[in-house]
Amino acid sequence: MPQLLSLSRAARLADVTRGELQKRIRRERVKTFEGEIAVEDLLTLYPHIDMEEDPVLERVQRIKSEARPKTHYSDGWMPDPQVLMKRLHEFQHTLVQTKSALNTSETLLEEAVAELRSVVEMPEAELRKAVRQCVNRLEGALGRLDRAEDAKARLFAKDALLKIVTASVRLLPSGHEFFIEGNDSILEAGLKAGLYLDYGCTSGNCGSCKCKVVSGAVRKLREHDYVLSAKEQAEGYILACSNTAISDLVVEANEATVNDRLPRQSIRAVVRKVEQESPELAVMHVQTPRTRSLRFKAGQRVRVTTEGGLSDTLYIASCPCDGRNLVFLVFSGIGSPLESAVFGGELSEQMVMIEGPEGGFLLHEDSRRPVLFVAKAGGLAPVKSLVEQAITIDDAEEISLVLVGGNPPDSSLERLCRSWQDALDNFSYRSTGADIPADRLAEELAKAIGKSSRTEVYVAGPRSWLDEVQQAVKARGVDTGQWTVEAVGG
Ligand code: FES
Repeated sequence: MPQLLSLSRAARLADVTRGELQKRIRRERVKTFEGEIAVEDLLTLYPHIDMEEDPVLERVQRIKSEARPKTHYSDGWMPDPQVLMKRLHEFQHTLVQTKSALNTSETLLEEAVAELRSVVEMPEAELRKAVRQCVNRLEGALGRLDRAEDAKARLFAKDALLKIVTASVRLLPSGHEFFIEGNDSILEAGLKAGLYLDYGCTSGNCGSCKCKVVSGAVRKLREHDYVLSAKEQAEGYILACSNTAISDLVVEANEATVNDRLPRQSIRAVVRKVEQESPELAVMHVQTPRTRSLRFKAGQRVRVTTEGGLSDTLYIASCPCDGRNLVFLVFSGIGSPLESAVFGGELSEQMVMIEGPEGGFLLHEDSRRPVLFVAKAGGLAPVKSLVEQAITIDDAEEISLVLVGGNPPDSSLERLCRSWQDALDNFSYRSTGADIPADRLAEELAKAIGKSSRTEVYVAGPRSWLDEVQQAVKARGVDTGQWTVEAVGG
């Protein structure tokens, strides 16, 4: 049986996204074993896994420096992060040498046994000669052992270092895998990985995030014992919001599927700031209390009501991985009852009531296909949330975003889209003029979708525009039956 690595871990070791690795596996027709890849195959795909410019070590440095105020470096019991880095580097070097020597020794031993077996029945003179040759070969090989270094050993050392910095968590029954970095709880890390884990308060009080540790060790981040009975604790149940992982974990946990309705929540939250990106568009940042995150899925909407009684249903334009800091896009001129309060600057630091979530404009579950997002006007809000979710999940082969009308020039939204394009190899972004004829847009979309019909398409915008675009695309022979569409505004 070959030595196997999960695709998530393999992607980290090769320093590529999971989507990129999956694309390569498909293209090169590499065999996988229920979501795992053989070490040899990974090295065939990425023979030069880089150990010098090591993102793992960079990550160590970042995590250590971020964690600094929370630790006791100043008390003298922990070395300075720079010293720690140097020691880890040394440790990694030693590990590569040791593992290489071990690999070589194992091979030598197997060869020596096979050689001796084949000569053991020979006449004495020939036997002596064969044994002498075998000894000479072993002595020569022993002399080279301390200089040995092979690709498999380098991969092993990198994996060992990765395990020091980040523990992996595999969820049952879904098989989803994610990594815990820094001081994150299991729940925080799972949400950051784009998973819809069950949770409520995020502070160890409600018990909604209860899950069962099947293997591995955890550490409590806060006391919560009264939520779990003694029997549950003895059976290995923990609260995901109040524990982190010490070692790699396998955990039985409840996750919402794309078809599950999330519980309706009512949360009093505060408008932290309103940024006017252009005369037509304002970005409203809303924060929930520390103990009440909003649980929602990317692409959903909520009812937002001000203390003065103004109310509108708005799409959440941010990622569900952060249910405390919500972003809404408010457009002028489309009749939103909140328009004057938002654009007049009256809502900053005011309380609002958030109720929801609702809506079915959602990402398909566990899809690994290329994804194309198209948005116009108000459709930008749910599409932005879906794009962030797709980037977070890191499963899609390619992610393309087409914004009809684009973002306001020099706005934070435009910078965000550009930064995704710069940072991600599998992400492309294009904006068109707002008045692009449906026929020309259809031509562009048909080209982007290609002939394979593997591409998942998500389109959001005004109803009349949606109809026009779909008709024009259909006229070019593209089946729009599987598209996920959302009418936003008139
Ligand atoms: S989310 Fe409430 S106890 Fe964990």
